[in-house]
Amino acid sequence: VEAALMDGPLKGKHVLVTSGPTHEPIDPVRYIANRSSGAQGTALARALSALGADVTFVTGPADVPPPDGVKVVQVQTAGQMLEAVQAALPASAAVFAAAVADWRVARTSDQKIKKDQAGSLPVLEFAENPDILATVSQMKQGRPALVVGFAAETNDVIAHATAKRERKGCDWIVANDVSPATGIMGGSENAVTLISDQGAEAWPRMGKDDVARQLAARIAEVIGGDA
Ligand code: CTP
Ligand code: CA
Repeated sequence: VEAALMDGPLKGKHVLVTSGPTHEPIDPVRYIANRSSGAQGTALARALSALGADVTFVTGPADVPPPDGVKVVQVQTAGQMLEAVQAALPASAAVFAAAVADWRVARTSDQKIKKDQAGSLPVLEFAENPDILATVSQMKQGRPALVVGFAAETNDVIAHATAKRERKGCDWIVANDVSPATGIMGGSENAVTLISDQGAEAWPRMGKDDVARQLAARIAEVIGGDA
C-alpha cells in the first residue's frame, strides 16, 4: 500500500516549479521586493509531488516554508532564478508561479548608500529583468512539453491573460483576478481562469490548496504516464 501511494500518475516525471517573490538589491542592506507569499507555488509543488512527480522547486524568499520531498533551490534575484531554472532543465513540465520582479536596480552600490548631508536624494535607475517564463516557453531545443504561467490581473482579466499567453508563448496561463473588490490579494483563496488554446475556463473560487490539486491533476492528464 505504501509503495502504491508513491505510484502516482506523475511518477518518474521531472516537473519544475518557480515560486515566491524575488528580492532585487539596492545596496548591501536594502532591496526591492513584492508581496508574494509563495503560498500558491508551494501548494502546487506539494500537489505535484503527491502525484509522484520529481519536483524541482526554485523559490525566492517566501513567507511559507517549502514542501517536504521536493528539491529546493533558493534564490534571491530574478537573474539567479533564471540561472537556477536553466540548470534544472530538462523537465516534462514547468510551472512559473513566482512573482518575479520586473525590474532590478541598474547599478547596485557595494557600500551602504548614506544620507547626503546636503539633503539631496538618491535616484535609482532600473533595468528590465529577463522574462523567465518567456525564455523557457520560446526555447528551440529542450522545451518542456507543458509550460504554464500565472497572471495576476486587476481588470480585463481574460483579455490581459490571453494576450500574455500569446506574447510569452506558454501553453497555459492560470489567470487570477486580484482586483481589490475580490479580496483575493494576500488571502488563502484564488479565483482562477485557465487559459489554453481551448479558450478560457473559469474555476469556482476555492482555497489555494484546491487550486493546486486541480491544476496538478490537469498537468498529470497532459504529461502523466498511464497510471
Ligand atoms: N514571469 C517570469 N519572469 C519575469 C516576469 C514574469 O517568469 N521576469 C512569469 C511569472 O512567473 C508568471 C508570468 O510570467 O508566470 C506572468 O507574470 P506577470 O507579472 O503577470 O507578467 P508580466 O509579463 O511581467 O506583465 P505585467 O506587466 O502584467 O507585470
Ligand atoms: Ca510582472
